[in-house]
Amino acid sequence: MKKKRILITGGSGLLGLNWACLLRETWDVVLGTHRQEVCLSGVTTVPLALTNTELLTRQLAAMAPDVIIHAAGMTSVDECEIRHEEAKRVNVELSGYIATAAAVLGIELVHISTDHLFQGQHSFIVESEPVSPLNYYGFTKAMAEERVQAVNPSALIIRTNFFGWGHVNRQSFSDWLIYNLRAGVPLTLFDDVFFTPILADSLAIAVHKLLEKKAVGIFNVVGDERISKYEFAVKLSQHFALPEKLIRRNQIVRAELLAARPRDMSLSNKKVQLVLDGGLGTVDDFLIALRQQELDGRRVELYGAVSEYMKRTIS
Ligand SMILES: NC(=O)c1ccc[n+]([C@@H]2O[C@H](COP(=O)([O-])OP(=O)(O)OC[C@H]3O[C@@H](n4cnc5c(N)ncnc54)[C@H](OP(=O)(O)O)[C@@H]3O)[C@@H](O)[C@H]2O)c1
Repeated sequence: MKKKRILITGGSGLLGLNWACLLRETWDVVLGTHRQEVCLSGVTTVPLALTNTELLTRQLAAMAPDVIIHAAGMTSVDECEIRHEEAKRVNVELSGYIATAAAVLGIELVHISTDHLFQGQHSFIVESEPVSPLNYYGFTKAMAEERVQAVNPSALIIRTNFFGWGHVNRQSFSDWLIYNLRAGVPLTLFDDVFFTPILADSLAIAVHKLLEKKAVGIFNVVGDERISKYEFAVKLSQHFALPEKLIRRNQIVRAELLAARPRDMSLSNKKVQLVLDGGLGTVDDFLIALRQQELDGRRVELYGAVSEYMKRTIS
C-alpha cells in the first residue's frame, strides 16, 4: 500500500527531526528545510519557498502531502525580543502563507504554537483562556494562531512545550541538562518556573490521533504533570544516573533576563484527554522513553543529522 506523505516545515529543528524519526517507517516523510541541510536515513528533504506564496503553493501542489506540520519558526525568546521585525515575519507572516496554501489545496494543516501565551499567574491554563503574552516571542505566536485561524479555519493548532534529542547546532532543554551534567558542569535551575513538558514523540503521536478524530482548532498537547524546571532536572538526573548534587536552585524573581518569561507555563490537557480518551503521560514516562531512544541510537543519529549553516538562502 502506498504510504501517506507528510511534510514537516522546520525540518532541521528539534521537533521536525524527532517527528521524522517516529514516522519514517510508516509514512513518506518530507522535511522542509531553510538554511541548514538535513541528512536522515529514510527521509527526504526539500528547500521550501516559505516567503513566496505562489511558488510555495506550486511546490505543495506538486509534492501533494496528505498532512503538513508547520514547525518552522524563530524560536529563541531572546532573539525575538531583539529582532521584532524578523520575529513577526517568520512566526506570523510565514505561518499565514503556509496556512493559506494548505487551505487553497485542501491539505490538512497542523500549526505548532506554544505555551508562552500567558502572563504565568495561573496553573493549568485551558484553551479558552484569552491570550496575554509577556514577551515578543509569545506575542508573535499569538498573532500567528489568529492569522492561521482566519485563513484556514480547519487547521489544528497545537499549544505545547516539548523536549527530545537535538543536534549539533540545536540543544533541547534535556540535551542541555544531560550534556552538562555528563561533563560535570554545575547547573542552576529555577524552582519557581513551572511547565507541563511532553516528549516530542508523544506530542506527535497525540497529534496524529487528533487528526484521525478530525479535530480542528486549538488543543493543548502537553504532559499530564506540572513540574518546575528544577524538579525536572532532578528527575532527569535520576533517570540518566547523573550527579544530582550538580543541580542548584535559583528563582526567576531574582534573575535578570532579557525577555520577561512567564513563571507558570503549565497548560491543561483535559480537552485532548477527553478526545483521546486518556492521559498523555508523566515526566517519568517521557524520561524513560528518552533514555530508551538514546539506547536505540536516536541521540547519536540526530546529533550528526544536520550540517552547518549553508551560504545559500532560498528566501
Ligand atoms: N522547543 C520547545 O520546547 C517549544 C516549545 C513551545 C513551542 N515550540 C514551537 O514548536 C515549533 C518547533 O520548535 P523547535 O524547537 O523544533 O524549533 P527549532 O529547533 O528552533 O527549529 C526551528 C526551525 O525553523 C526553521 N526556520 C527558522 N527560520 C525560518 C525561515 N525564515 N524560513 C523557514 N524555516 C525557518 C529552522 O531552519 P534553519 O535552522 O535552517 O533556519 C529550523 O528548522 C516552533 O513553532 C516553536 O515555536 C517549541
